[in-house]
Amino acid sequence: MKTVLVTGGAGFIGTNFVRWVLGHTDAAVVVLDKLTYAGNAHSLDDLPADRVRLVVGDICDAPLVDSLVGQADAVVHFAAESHNDNSLLDPSPFVTTNLVGTYTLLEAVRRHGTRYHHISTDEVYGDLELDDPARFTEATQYNPSSPYSSTKAGSDLLVRAWVRSFGVKATISNCSNNYGPYQHIEKFIPRQITNVLSGRRPKLYGTGANVRDWIHVDDHNAAVWTILTRGRIGETYLIGADGEKNNREVIEEILRLLGRPADAYDLVADRPGHDLRYAIDSTKLRTELGWAPQYRSFSEGLAATITWYEAHEAWWHDAKAATEAKYAQQGQ
Ligand code: NAD
Ligand code: DAU
Repeated sequence: MKTVLVTGGAGFIGTNFVRWVLGHTDAAVVVLDKLTYAGNAHSLDDLPADRVRLVVGDICDAPLVDSLVGQADAVVHFAAESHNDNSLLDPSPFVTTNLVGTYTLLEAVRRHGTRYHHISTDEVYGDLELDDPARFTEATQYNPSSPYSSTKAGSDLLVRAWVRSFGVKATISNCSNNYGPYQHIEKFIPRQITNVLSGRRPKLYGTGANVRDWIHVDDHNAAVWTILTRGRIGETYLIGADGEKNNREVIEEILRLLGRPADAYDLVADRPGHDLRYAIDSTKLRTELGWAPQYRSFSEGLAATITWYEAHEAWWHDAKAATEAKYAQQGQ
């Protein structure tokens, strides 16, 4: 695989994926990113120009997408509107980017016969009860809750249809909640870390009982490369690292690691339609392709993430006031 086109490579997971590819393979990367509020060109600043090229553009721009896909050996599609809270305020860019953008990419890989890997989320399956021992598998029925997750579900279905109808060489992965460096500070973990670092109190939605299944972003990206290079065409693989925690536990751990009292946070308005629990059974990926997560301790991964935000205040500082002003309007 000589050249990989990475959409959304200036966002959280995409940026980390580009770094993972540079560190583990000989491939060159072309990033296609619109640089929305969630994209940050500085996240790619320190990378070697002879292996990484950033093209600022929209995945809905069919001529641009066609030309870039035509020059690539594979496409890994991360670009998306990714934040549930935003999708509740204005679903419009979610429909355009997540559905029309994916359609545009699928038509291009169909024309060029290019290998395509589609990045998706466990949220397409809806949620589980807190006391339910069940976890999501590849056989779980789609049942998305939010405008964000419904557009991701729709994009997955487009991929499946393009595989079956047109023979597109695609795979899909659905991953649980990622954490690590370069994550936008609107998201739960970096929001709370930067709240403490900027003298604000962490904010917990509702009662904090909701459960997320955390995975370090490098473990996610190692799984993506494994599926891209060894996955079976047409297959879906769930990615998860057995990392279930409720939100209260996560906030308390952040406070502990930052040397603050365990109760130094505020309870704020809940998210409308807030999914209760996500949990991934990644047996298929582990047994069929031999992937296993490397980060065995959430606390250690979280501590390293905190260290990264402490050392990179310039990366997040300018977005902090605006992000908090937006949440304040929603009582969050
Ligand atoms: P992010 O919001 O941090 O980054 C998204 C990137 O896509 C940004 O750089 C943005 O500028 C770019 N983008 C948005 N619209 C675009 C468009 N029309 N054209 C080109 N670029 C555009 O998102 P993330 O958290 O890195 O998520 C990446 C992917 O992984 C998404 O598809 C998301 O659904 C999926 N995912 C995320 C998680 C998670 O925990 N963050 C978990 C599972 C799956
Ligand atoms: O499960 C995968 C999904 O994980 C991805 O598809 C999404 O792109 C990604 O954003 C993430 O979605 P969540 O909605 O789970 O992530 P978020 O970081 O927004 O919230 C995590 C949990 O924390 C959720 O239960 C809501 C809660 N929360 C969030 C914020 C921002 C709080 O309690 N306080 C907060 O300030």
